[in-house]
Amino acid sequence: MQNEQMKILILGSGGREHMLAKVCALSPLAKEVVVAPGNGGMSQEFSAFPIDVENNDAIVRLATEENVDFVVVGPEVPLCNGAVDALNENGIIAYGPNQVGAELEGSKAFTKDFLARHNIPTAAYGNFSEVEAARDFLGKSRLPLVVKASGLAAGKGVVICETLEEAENSVREMLSGESFGESGKEVVIEEFLEGEETSLHLICSGDSYVTLPMSQDHKKAGEGDTGLNTGGMGAYAPTPLVTREMLSDYETNIVRPTLAGLKADGIDFRGTLYIGLMLTQDGPKVLEFNVRFGDPETQVILPLIDEDLVPVLLASAKGEDLPRNLKFKNESAMVVVLASKGYPESYSKGEIINFPDSLPKKTDLIHAGTKQNEIGEIVSAGGRVLGAVGRGSTLSEAAERAYALCDSIGFTSKFLRRDIGYRELSRD
Ligand code: AMP
Ligand code: GLY
Repeated sequence: MQNEQMKILILGSGGREHMLAKVCALSPLAKEVVVAPGNGGMSQEFSAFPIDVENNDAIVRLATEENVDFVVVGPEVPLCNGAVDALNENGIIAYGPNQVGAELEGSKAFTKDFLARHNIPTAAYGNFSEVEAARDFLGKSRLPLVVKASGLAAGKGVVICETLEEAENSVREMLSGESFGESGKEVVIEEFLEGEETSLHLICSGDSYVTLPMSQDHKKAGEGDTGLNTGGMGAYAPTPLVTREMLSDYETNIVRPTLAGLKADGIDFRGTLYIGLMLTQDGPKVLEFNVRFGDPETQVILPLIDEDLVPVLLASAKGEDLPRNLKFKNESAMVVVLASKGYPESYSKGEIINFPDSLPKKTDLIHAGTKQNEIGEIVSAGGRVLGAVGRGSTLSEAAERAYALCDSIGFTSKFLRRDIGYRELSRD
């Protein structure tokens, strides 16, 4: 199987999945890449099947009917729904954690208890499903503090509270189901941590893992990291903020204890582990785990990998040992998100996008919230519309290329941040 060509199905419709599909299609192991449901750009390049990826039966039916050999699950919701378990039960190999492993993203309360049990550094916390107990805890805590909906909330379930009143209101709204439905019926109340944030992506197969280049994303909608939280307005890698020694420290104090803890708890974790870290004065602390590749981080991490990714994904999916290291290009990459004005709140859709006649390189233009209209034109269909990727021997060269691509694309509500990577660029 390992050396036979495969038909690969990529599940999802964002920029992350477009990059995964492009990278898998470059592999000599790929006979064909198909996508579901995909987006406007993905459906121009690959056969796209309009299924609901939150329905495991639909996923298994498609993979079976299309004779798919290998499925790569992009987003967290199908992973938390047990898509990998359902595929495996039907004899189909799939990349990503099983449903139990996906709890590391699906339940922040589960994760905090996991971290505490295994002595992995994280913010002090309490988990609550009753208002009274939460209020007592708040009364004894120092401000500011952080209130989080335990379940999936598309990155929106975190409130940093400066006052007790604000914290009590957030807790009440979450626990009543008003603000995040079922996802808020349990909350985590957490100490506020100060420092720079960074994220570490690993590909795991039990306690065997490979680290991918360290990246940093910009979550705020506005320049200077101001305004509302979004899924991410841009990212760059590698981040020089993290030296080789720091990475080795994270591996010793965070990565290995996490993978050993999962094993001790009987969880055979396979797939991507994305560790969000806060670099505090007391050392790195885990902010969160995600169990899938970051979006838009994937758009800068994957182009820096200088070898075939498919055998690595496949080995992880099969629970085989992974290579100790992957080869990376000696380059920097940046992605700038072209969003619709108004995102992450309301914005218009259906605007025709004008592309330049010749694009710089095939892997540089990534579609996210786009679709093809009835006459095959690409129109906007989401808040984050496209990602412009630039690579170069320095981060400023990568930035120059990414922004040149941004400027060559037009749609009425086009909106982007002009300062992606500003902290690193000002250090140059
Ligand atoms: P999370 O989804 O838990 O990573 O939270 C989303 C964002 O909220 C993080 O990327 C941080 O910017 C911020 N955040 C979460 N927890 C904390 C904390 N304990 N202290 C400070 N900021 C936090
Ligand atoms: N860019 C943040 C995430 O994918 O969660």
